[in-house]
Amino acid sequence: MIIGDIAKFEQYHIYAEHGLINDPNGLIYFNGQYHVFYQWNPNALDHTYKVWAHVVSDDLVNWQRLPVAIAPSLPEDRSGIYSGTTIEKDGRLYAFYTGNVRNDAGESVASFQMAAVSDDGVHFEKLGKLFDQPTGYTRHVRDPKVFERNGHYYMLLGAQKLDLTGDIIAYESADLHHWTFMGSILGDQIMAYRGYMMECPDLVTIDGQDVLMFSPQGLAAEGDRLQNIHNTGYVLGEFDDVNGFFQVTTQFRELDQGFEFYASQTLTRGNRHLLWGWSGMMPSAREKQLPTMQAGWAHVLSLPRDMAIVDGELRQYAIPELGDFQLVQPEAVTGLGLWRLAAKTWQVSLTSKMSIQHDGDTITFTRVAWESGETEERRAHVTGDVLLIIDNDVVELYTTSGDTVMTARYFD
Ligand code: FRU
Repeated sequence: MIIGDIAKFEQYHIYAEHGLINDPNGLIYFNGQYHVFYQWNPNALDHTYKVWAHVVSDDLVNWQRLPVAIAPSLPEDRSGIYSGTTIEKDGRLYAFYTGNVRNDAGESVASFQMAAVSDDGVHFEKLGKLFDQPTGYTRHVRDPKVFERNGHYYMLLGAQKLDLTGDIIAYESADLHHWTFMGSILGDQIMAYRGYMMECPDLVTIDGQDVLMFSPQGLAAEGDRLQNIHNTGYVLGEFDDVNGFFQVTTQFRELDQGFEFYASQTLTRGNRHLLWGWSGMMPSAREKQLPTMQAGWAHVLSLPRDMAIVDGELRQYAIPELGDFQLVQPEAVTGLGLWRLAAKTWQVSLTSKMSIQHDGDTITFTRVAWESGETEERRAHVTGDVLLIIDNDVVELYTTSGDTVMTARYFD
């Protein structure tokens, strides 16, 4: 719920009041509040300009909008404050982002890794460009994720190699101001899951297990998996901070088996690890015809999810702050709310264009695509009861076992 908005479109989700939003950025618990920044174009329903919008919450449920945190003002970020992260050091909040530069024709021509700092978490002072683009990569280097390990700071960046394959590279710093290039953290591992670009890398350690998340672009579908235009997922492994290398030990797995989930980012508070994503999709016919465009806004962020490692596997759970899920029969699922359904055969129709079926061990989402009128399906094998969080035009499906999340926008 957003406090203080005139029109309340979404009950549980963070949405755009007007204009277009995408990736969650800078997620942090700072000065006693959860801070969520996110990509926002307040001027147009497209991706030609971005600022970091800002909301805060005490409880992950009620959100208050704050003024825009960082906006274009320098030659190196004049066309967009692209995605990045924040980190606290000596009581100050440091933000790292990618400055985007477009030419007069509106084409993206350059990007730079930039920093800004804040004492109150609300007003930021820019520190400018951090370093030149690395050699061996195209201009597609972006989305700094900064974290601390063993008294050193590391920055991961999504990148595209000169042979047009995706990569994740690392820089290292002792003070957050001076950065040294370490190189690719992946070497030649998982080439089949790197696509032509890897966006929004994130590294989080959950119960001692390193998890590397990223959003690869251009992967081919594999059966029920990787069905969306671009994907967001993870591998488990071990980050060697001395050599800047991530040894991958598992397959690439998606974080969400639904239709809309991309560019995720984590927030760590103590030993709790939360994950947000963008419940949207990249520029495409589908995005251009999103039904809310007529009302002057586009996209929502996903809800935060709790993450855990159970028996060596990543699990994702609905956060308890949302409230109680009512155990009901499928007929009782009529709309907005938190519903729990037993793991057996059932079907729920949210509108004439969206239904969810459970056949005892598989969930199938069936949706009539708003831009093409074609029927599309997303399927996942699940265990446990099913939890549905139904908002006005977005539904998130979780399981009590934590094995699956599926996110979908739906419109009548
Ligand atoms: C992912 C992304 C990022 C970029 C941002 C721009 O959705 O393309 O790589 O920083 O969006 O808004």
